[in-house]
Amino acid sequence: MTRKQIPSTGLLRDYASQNPGTLLIGKHILHYEEVASTQDIAGKLARQGAEEGTVVIAEKQTGGRGRQGRSWISPDGGLQLSIILRPNLEPAQVIPLPLVAGVAVARAIKKVTTLQPKLKWPNDIIIARKKVGGILTETSTRKGKIDHTVVGIGLNVNTARSLFPEAIRETATSLAEESGRNIAPLELLQCLFGEFEVLYIEFLAGGFDKIREQWKAMSNTIGSQVKVDSGGAEIAGEALDIDSEGFLLLRRGNGNVERVISGDVSPPTTRL
Ligand code: BTN
Repeated sequence: MTRKQIPSTGLLRDYASQNPGTLLIGKHILHYEEVASTQDIAGKLARQGAEEGTVVIAEKQTGGRGRQGRSWISPDGGLQLSIILRPNLEPAQVIPLPLVAGVAVARAIKKVTTLQPKLKWPNDIIIARKKVGGILTETSTRKGKIDHTVVGIGLNVNTARSLFPEAIRETATSLAEESGRNIAPLELLQCLFGEFEVLYIEFLAGGFDKIREQWKAMSNTIGSQVKVDSGGAEIAGEALDIDSEGFLLLRRGNGNVERVISGDVSPPTTRL
């Protein structure tokens, strides 16, 4: 399939000077052509007192960071952004925030495209069994209280498959590749800000419970036999549920239910 690539340069910069129509998220947008990582810029701005809802967007990252110490490669056509939040919550209460962001991203994709994204625990965005986006949250505390949380979102929007490094070409995809058409990045961004703002306010007011149900409805993890690699140690079982903090409840072969805090989920290679 041949598609015309939308040149991303400039579009987001223009958007950054407009009002995205949200009250909080994206009220201030800082746009960069190239940075090492938007997480670093946003973290620095947050330490300097940037307002909640400030967004850092970059056309290109040279040192994008992913979960579990991995790097995040974002070839042309990707959307990379970090949102500064200052939730008035206890540190333990923000643990489900990446899952809240995952629901927002999935809802925005659904609204702007005809695609049906799935959520893979803890916060990968999946389409047709391939990863289209990921979320990284970093929280900074002061005297036991949250000073700020930076929610980083990386989404392959108009990325051509040929631009993905060979090592991930079979496991990564983009919205354009899956839908067969280019996606307007600004429409997606605006929708994402709107969805995230609604969910974030709901989360602050009422916690994770209701959003958890939405996460589960879009999950490709719950109810499946999975293998979880948590930093070297691998455990297998049936993914039963996520709890009120967003941790994965895994029923092992011996019937015991384990609470998994972090890791990478994949289908088991052998029958459990
Ligand atoms: C993952 O799936 O491992 C999380 C990927 C998060 C990538 C985004 S891109 C914007 C922000 N800046 C970064 O360096 N990382 C996040």
